Amino acid sequence: MLSDKSFPVIEATLPLVGSRIGEITPKFYARLFAAHPELLDGLFSRSNQRNGNQQQALAGSIAAFASHLVSNPGTLPETVLSRIAHRHASLGITEPQYQVVYEHLFAAIAEDLAEVITPEIAEAWTEVYWLMADALIKLEKGLYAAQANGEMWMPWRVATKTPAGTGSMTFTLEPADATPITAALPGQYVSVKVTLPDGLRQVRQYSLSGDAGTNRSFTTKLDDGGEVSPVLHNDVAVGDVIEISNPYGEITLKDGDGPVVLASAGIGCTPTASILRSLAESGSDRQILVLHAESTLDNWALRSQMTDDVDRLDGADLQLWLEEPQAGSNTGFMSLREVDLPANASLYLCGPLPFMKNIRNEAINAGIPATKIHYEVFGPDIWLAS
Ligand SMILES: Cc1cc2nc3c(=O)[nH]c(=O)nc-3n(C[C@H](O)[C@H](O)[C@H](O)COP(=O)(O)OP(=O)(O)OC[C@H]3O[C@@H](n4cnc5c(N)ncnc54)[C@H](O)[C@@H]3O)c2cc1C
Ligand code: HEM
Repeated sequence: MLSDKSFPVIEATLPLVGSRIGEITPKFYARLFAAHPELLDGLFSRSNQRNGNQQQALAGSIAAFASHLVSNPGTLPETVLSRIAHRHASLGITEPQYQVVYEHLFAAIAEDLAEVITPEIAEAWTEVYWLMADALIKLEKGLYAAQANGEMWMPWRVATKTPAGTGSMTFTLEPADATPITAALPGQYVSVKVTLPDGLRQVRQYSLSGDAGTNRSFTTKLDDGGEVSPVLHNDVAVGDVIEISNPYGEITLKDGDGPVVLASAGIGCTPTASILRSLAESGSDRQILVLHAESTLDNWALRSQMTDDVDRLDGADLQLWLEEPQAGSNTGFMSLREVDLPANASLYLCGPLPFMKNIRNEAINAGIPATKIHYEVFGPDIWLAS
């Protein structure tokens, strides 16, 4: 909770700092990487730095956190913090690194707001930073402690590499050493670390797309302009050993017996397919509605897995949206207006942001409470921050 001293200062300066944060963060990252170039080797994404996504995410989350403290005193934005903590833990972020980030962030703030900043303003924003940092550190410690091992990276051997629809590939892995394995929950992801042709190491997250538990399989869509997916698609072969993290991610199937709606678009079907697989494996009698949108049938990466799992479940139905008209499917973008939504359903969403925004709005209009809508973003979550 913000102190009485800082509260009015944050309230008064939020518009100013919020409006400058887009300028502050590039300065911050320039300072951070000048002092610690090693943070770009195996931690921060070089592409996100180039395309500005991560800069927006960090900036937006601090501003969103400060405005939450002002408008909901005494509470913390749990969902935002949990998402960031899972992402951080999947990257192995440590407590001492928060001091490093603090120093460079506040040097950037002092530089950008040199004309207006007072010691009082700097102190109040320092308080905001450490409130957020302490909450994240606590969550991240809990996440690390819940793992079956104390390792950050573990060697796993590629057992199979199978094309999955046009442009996607499914990798199944087997452990390459005896490190105890954390049981993954359906819907969770692992970080995958690869070495690029220029020698730099880069990490990306991939949702588990098949059986969870102690199995590890993921499905990647090739991004020709990207750094990691081309290495996975073109260079990593069966028998190779890659490094992966323990499983993280809070978008997992919640217990209960209520209806479940899984809505995905494109490669966003990976976490929903894993949730569907777990329902099929347990012979669930929940009512399940699987909604998937794809450009063409051939592009649907997990088509046979998902249709097989729907067929195995008495209570499951599938509705498909394709860009071109095709018998048995809807045409164009997915809309919940074309769906008979079960009452009291929980909705799990994954796909591009515009898709998720639209489906979430439609779901809320249809009476699904926001607390029962869970979504995974395949990149820095600039939606939460906006
Ligand atoms: C929780 C989570 C789960 C995920 N699960 C999956 C999954 O199951 N399957 C899956 O396929 N993906 C998944 N992703 C996405 C995945 O992590 C990667 O983001 C994706 O594979 C692209 O990585 P890349 O290294 O190939 O591309 P990147 O190198 O990250 O590039 C991303 C984009 O940035 C662009 N870019 C690079 N440099 C510049 C520049 N200078 N200017 C402008 N643009 C630039 C590239 O063209 C590219 O389109 C997930 C992400 C998250 C966060
Ligand atoms: C209070 C401090 C911090 C805040 C508010 C913060 C915020 C964020 C946010 C919002 C994301 C995007 C999460 C998502 O949507 O998936 C993120 C990702 C990330 N954070 Fe932090 N963070 C903080 C501290 C740190 C520290 C100390 C480090 C380590 C030096 C760090 C390293 C990263 C990395 C590597 C990513 C992944 C993004 C990428 O690779 O581009 N963060 N952080």
